[in-house]
Amino acid sequence: MKVIFAAYDPQPQRWTNLIAEQLPDAEIIVWEPGMAPTGADYALVWQPAEALFEAERQLKAVFNLGAGIDGLLRLRNLPPALPVVRLEDAGMSVQMAEYVAYHVIGASRDMDLYRSQQADSQWKIHRPIKRSEWPVGVLGLGHIGKRVAQTLAGLEYPVHGWARTAHDIEGVRCHAGQAELDTFLQSTRVLVNTLPLTDETRDLIDYRLLGRLRPGAMLINVGRGEHLVDEDLIRALAEGHVTRAVLDVFRQEPLPGEHPFWRTPGLTITPHISARTLRDATVEQICGKIRALEAGQQVSGVVDLGRGY
Ligand code: GLV
Repeated sequence: MKVIFAAYDPQPQRWTNLIAEQLPDAEIIVWEPGMAPTGADYALVWQPAEALFEAERQLKAVFNLGAGIDGLLRLRNLPPALPVVRLEDAGMSVQMAEYVAYHVIGASRDMDLYRSQQADSQWKIHRPIKRSEWPVGVLGLGHIGKRVAQTLAGLEYPVHGWARTAHDIEGVRCHAGQAELDTFLQSTRVLVNTLPLTDETRDLIDYRLLGRLRPGAMLINVGRGEHLVDEDLIRALAEGHVTRAVLDVFRQEPLPGEHPFWRTPGLTITPHISARTLRDATVEQICGKIRALEAGQQVSGVVDLGRGY
């Protein structure tokens, strides 16, 4: 069996050594541009080039080294019958939950204010948190959105969730489909985006949508940069309806130095670190699935290419 690794890691052996441990009988190849076809059976990829699929015509499945598969879907030559398997959690949802909880807690507990008081040696106590004033709305209720919603519900924030289809999550008020989007938004002050990027969700977070959130709104975008209309967020922040935003993902990454986001008051920017792909858990999950496929079994996490996630 041949396994090809195509993910532009400057030290691919960090991955291939782990794969070799898990699949001792496999030949493991690191893909390089211009490489002759290898006849690989399985590919492990992150935002691969179309050239990979030009050359590798015998693939039985492709495994995405991340949760979002938009980097694969934008290729023009992804074979329509090739099973694409996305990463299922593998340590991502807990990271996402802590990232989002950190920012929700920081905002609702006035941590910026206390930090600025400390700089002036000022001992001043403000009123305690009223959780009812901080309803959180989670867009997308996959592995990640669900964990985020449950974590915040566990901290007793009022939590709403929205997804394309109906969900039932304890402690979370779930809304489904376009028809319930407005009710969801009107119930939300802190909007957390964990949606997959599809044609339906691209540019979803625009001026109109932000305007439907409760006043003093906050946006946390950990989905994809293309979900958000950048200039609409800048406008909503300038007008004061949205008071702060935390952005971990951007239309162009790294975020160019001249992008106005760097200089927009109220914005917190992090460089796509809210949930990192963890090598050990990822390789273990994928190699387990390769073994299952080789044994003729079905695996979970196969993407519905028509749906886009
Ligand atoms: C990261 O952005 C991922 O999709 O896993």
